[in-house]
Parts: sequence; structure tokens; C-alpha cells
Amino acid sequence: MRKNIVAGNWKMNTTVPEGVELAKAVNEAVAQEQSLKCDVVVGVPFTHLTAVNAVLEGGKVGLAAENCANHKSGAYTGEVSAAMVASTGAQYVILGHSERREYYNETNEMLKEKVDLALENGLKVIFCCGESLEQRENGSFKEVISAEISESLFHLTAEQWASIVIAYEPIWAIGTGKTATSDQAQEVHAFIRELVATKYGEQLAQDTTILYGGSCKPSNAPELFAKPDIDGGLIGGASLKAADFMGIVTAF
Ligand code: 13P
Repeated sequence: MRKNIVAGNWKMNTTVPEGVELAKAVNEAVAQEQSLKCDVVVGVPFTHLTAVNAVLEGGKVGLAAENCANHKSGAYTGEVSAAMVASTGAQYVILGHSERREYYNETNEMLKEKVDLALENGLKVIFCCGESLEQRENGSFKEVISAEISESLFHLTAEQWASIVIAYEPIWAIGTGKTATSDQAQEVHAFIRELVATKYGEQLAQDTTILYGGSCKPSNAPELFAKPDIDGGLIGGASLKAADFMGIVTAF
């Protein structure tokens, strides 16, 4: 059976002390939750990983980095390797977010390298995919999503696939307040699961967690999470307030 996951992506927000406070609040709220129906993860800036890990250690909340380098080590000033991320205690890394693809020119090929390094270092990958408004409107969105997933992930073995979580994030819904309708999201999630089934078989596809991201909040999370192929969310803005984030965590 696949896991439900609600993961926060703090993006470039909070100082270290602010992040530690937020992580403490989430950690305590999750600890008090009697009937948790999902795994909870916070995705934090590199600078915060060690301090936030110290807060979360021994608790139920998982820790993710928001990126890692596509090189193992060496002369790449300012980069942070998958091994460095793993050494902080983080269990996950978010890769392929549309903001990284768009503003930092990350390609499917680079993401393939990042995925391999993340898995080599024992990290689970939350792999983001999703179309722009133009691609949604001209009907090419399924091709785009299919290329993003197959070009960066379909070289993996079935065993490696177990460490992959997919996040479908329509770019037009990120930070815009414009959520995909639950039917629009379900259609793409079912398409992604079918794609995975074609490559890895029905059982692995059924075991794959597929998250929705894009203006997800406590008010729309219940309807989204009720869909058969939506297994949780990757949450931006609403993950920056513990109460809002918990409103989504408890939406199942
Ligand atoms: P928002 O929830 O702020 O729309 O961001 C979604 C996102 O990009 C999560 O990775």
C-alpha cells in the first residue's frame, strides 16, 4: 500500500532561528496528533537542515532539502552535494521544482544526474513535474509531464523506484491562489500512475505516492486528497504557518 505524505516546501523563506521555531511548532503539533493518516515532511533551505534536524530527531516529521548538486563533489563553488544533504540527517530531497527548472535552467538530463546522486546517498526523492499555463491551454501538458518523468527517472531499476515520490505541480497553480480543480489534478495523477504502470508494472504504480502541489490549503485539501490518485500534497505558502500546514496534514 502506498503512503500518504504531506510535505512542506519552505522555498527561500525564514532565517535559521525562524525556521527552527516553525519546525518546533510543526513537530509538536504532529506529535500531539492522535490519528495521523499521512507521513509529514518539511523541506527547508540548506542552511537550516542541521538545526532543523536537531529539532525533529526522534520524532515523526521527516526532513527534506529543496535541491542538491548534479555533481558528486569538487570545484563547484556554492553547490551542495547529495552526500552533504544526507550527512545532515535529511531523508529526502525535492528535485525538479519548476522554479529550479525555470530560474536555474535545470534540464531533465541534469535532474537525472541529481536523482542518481540522491539515491546513491540514500535519500528519497520528491520529484516535481508539471506544465505551464501555455502547455495546459495548447493541450501538450501530458507530453511535457511524460517527458519530465521518463527522461529523468525511467532509467531507474524497480528497486530504486521505491525511493521516488512524484509531485504534480501545475506551474499556473503555484503561488497564484489558482488551484487545479480536484478533477483536473486527478486526471493528471491517474495519467502519471498509468505511465509508471507501463514502465514498472501495475503493482509498483499502485505503490507510488503522487502528491499534488499548487495553492493547496486547508480549505481545498480535503477535496483534493479524497481523489483516488492524489496521495497528499507538496505545500508552499501554507507550509510557512504551522496552523495552516497542520490544517492540510489533518485533511485526510
Ligand atoms: P504554493 O503552495 O505556494 O502554491 O506552492 C506550491 C509549491 O511550489 C510547492 O512546491
